[in-house]
Amino acid sequence: MEKEKPSLVVLISGGGSNLQAIIDAITNNELDAEIKAVICNQAEASGLDRSAKANIQNHIVDHRLFPDRESFDQAMTEIIDPLNPDLVVLAGFMRILSDDFIDHYQHRLINIHPSLLPKYKGLNTHQLAIDNDDAKHGASVHYVSHELDSGPVVIQAEVPILTTDNADTLAARVLKEEHKIYPMAIKMHTEGRLTFDKDKLNLDNKLLCKPLLWKDGQLHT
Ligand code: GAR
Repeated sequence: MEKEKPSLVVLISGGGSNLQAIIDAITNNELDAEIKAVICNQAEASGLDRSAKANIQNHIVDHRLFPDRESFDQAMTEIIDPLNPDLVVLAGFMRILSDDFIDHYQHRLINIHPSLLPKYKGLNTHQLAIDNDDAKHGASVHYVSHELDSGPVVIQAEVPILTTDNADTLAARVLKEEHKIYPMAIKMHTEGRLTFDKDKLNLDNKLLCKPLLWKDGQLHT
């Protein structure tokens, strides 16, 4: 019997270009995994077309139909748990998650955020990096902990900020790199290379003291 592939459930809210990057990495045999389901909190999100096209089951869970965060998260849990995924992947999922949800998926809940964390948690990260005259900006893949946009960072992609940049041009360049680093980090997880010793993140059984860095098309450790 063929061995089951590591499984993912992907949560999205919008365009789903990171979801597409994960689908593409699987299709191209760069990532040995299966996306069991996509959950989206916005019925009209264009990202849903991407998963439908890849024959992945879509679930719309509209947060506006729930009285509170906990019941919305519980509805997602009821979809996720029967699928027993190895990893729950937040890919442009724009809802804050409840403590119960985060605890329930501890060490198997991962997010991508468009900044060089710990800088610029929350929204408008690209504009903030420009307004602060930063020389560089980027994105971070991190395991999710209770504080917003926090938790051990696996890998960061760094891009220079150009004098000609506005928030849109910068966001587009960062997004392109997000599509590289997210499948990479997911692969490290599904291959069992990322493990936890209490809350400390290890890569290949060694403490990951600082995030891996993806820069100029190369991975620096
Ligand atoms: C990405 O830039 C992702 O990093 C960001 O939303 C965008 C989603 O794009 N996520 C967050 O800001 C989460 N805090 P996508 O829907 O095309 O993947």
